[in-house]
Amino acid sequence: MLVSAKDMLNKAYEGKYAVGQFNINNLEWTKAVLQTAQELNSPVILGVSEGAAKYMTGFKTVVGMVNGMMEEMNITVPVALHLDHGSYEGAKAAIAAGFSSIMFDGSHYPIEENIAKTAEMVKLTNEKGISLEAEVGSIGGEEDGIVGTGEIADVKECVAINDLGVTMLAAGIGNIHGAYPENWTGLAFDTLEQINNETGNTPLVLHGGTGIESDMIKKAISLGVSKINVNTECQWAFQQATREYVVAGKDQQGKGFDPRKLLNPGFEAIKATVKEKMEIFGSVNKA
Ligand code: 13P
Repeated sequence: MLVSAKDMLNKAYEGKYAVGQFNINNLEWTKAVLQTAQELNSPVILGVSEGAAKYMTGFKTVVGMVNGMMEEMNITVPVALHLDHGSYEGAKAAIAAGFSSIMFDGSHYPIEENIAKTAEMVKLTNEKGISLEAEVGSIGGEEDGIVGTGEIADVKECVAINDLGVTMLAAGIGNIHGAYPENWTGLAFDTLEQINNETGNTPLVLHGGTGIESDMIKKAISLGVSKINVNTECQWAFQQATREYVVAGKDQQGKGFDPRKLLNPGFEAIKATVKEKMEIFGSVNKA
């Protein structure tokens, strides 16, 4: 059964490790992430952007697929199905469809509007017993066509959003989605520390987990980061393995055209990436 991300993240905050949010795109992605979490006895968060949900034909399909898979695969580790960067309307639709965790991203609104809309989401998610992530200071890079500039969040604004009673807080600390540029100056640890000091025991969320070296990840975890989002790195792993298979001509040998064979190297590559991340994040055997 899907669970709220609240308990797993509070435990991670206390235990100084992080739970990975891995974004899913289809059946292979979902199966790879769930299987790896079960094998490593790790809690996990399945991230679904509105674009990915639309690609999979809608929120209900995603909820049905994930619930079915968890039952058929005998998944016993805690799994949260989380809307990634939800809009106001998207969040309401995902709640209605049965998601167990929601991110409402109001970071592009003026702060007063972000506060008002997030407060409404706190109420809605509390009524359902599901977890809520809010965002302050937009995360840079491009995701589903939305381009942010990679702001450093204002600590007072973080406190105002945190005080609404959100489960977890994503704050911009110079992180961006997708590849980091060569001249990237790294995470703003001073800001992260201030936010952590001012927001009590609220688990903090690090978006843009792709390409952040493990020393920085570990330092971020020591400063309150308890959830780390990874998307692009699984896409690269899948793409590279699939490419190698085709370039080697394996799709033309025997039954190599069978999608169950054609997609298998990419599936295994996602599993390897998820495993590597869970080991760095410290969530192995924390189910
Ligand atoms: P990356 O694609 O950079 O790993 O970021 C994922 C993310 O933050 C999803 O919200």
